[in-house]
Amino acid sequence: MRNSLNQSQYSQLNLLDQALVDKAVAMTDTAYAPYSGFLVGAAVQLNNGVVLGGCNQENASYPLCMCGERVALYNAAANYPHQSVVSLAIVARNPRKKLTQPVSPCGACRQVIAEYESRYGSDIRIILKGETDDVIIFDTIKELLPYGFDSTFL
Ligand code: THU
Repeated sequence: MRNSLNQSQYSQLNLLDQALVDKAVAMTDTAYAPYSGFLVGAAVQLNNGVVLGGCNQENASYPLCMCGERVALYNAAANYPHQSVVSLAIVARNPRKKLTQPVSPCGACRQVIAEYESRYGSDIRIILKGETDDVIIFDTIKELLPYGFDSTFL
């Protein structure tokens, strides 16, 4: 059950979405975030049913840090280039401060999600969660990145 703000609860999700969120939560355990301590896990559900994960990967050269959702998307694109991404779950855990609201993907990740919507010609559902049962669901990145830059300008 979702209200007009797309807010829901983990317990209200169907079993497929719960499993995707569970995978994203599990991925926070292997996040490499020694500098920020901010643990991001992500999981993608592909058109063929395969679920793949990712988590943030940091670097002593800070600008090289890579977000968890991009690791998951690139993992999927590298291993299953012909399968569209149906859903993407993004979760985060902050040992220093409990995340009481769902995490919001950064602008760079929104751009990358938009690229895969364009590539496969289909919307990607995005499920966001923090450290409570609250979740926010978007049916397409266009809700999070309106009037975005894409290949039609090139
Ligand atoms: N991070 C993500 O993994 N995804 C986002 O959308 C926002 C930020 C990571 C990057 C960095 O490792 C840490 O969170 C703090 O910014």
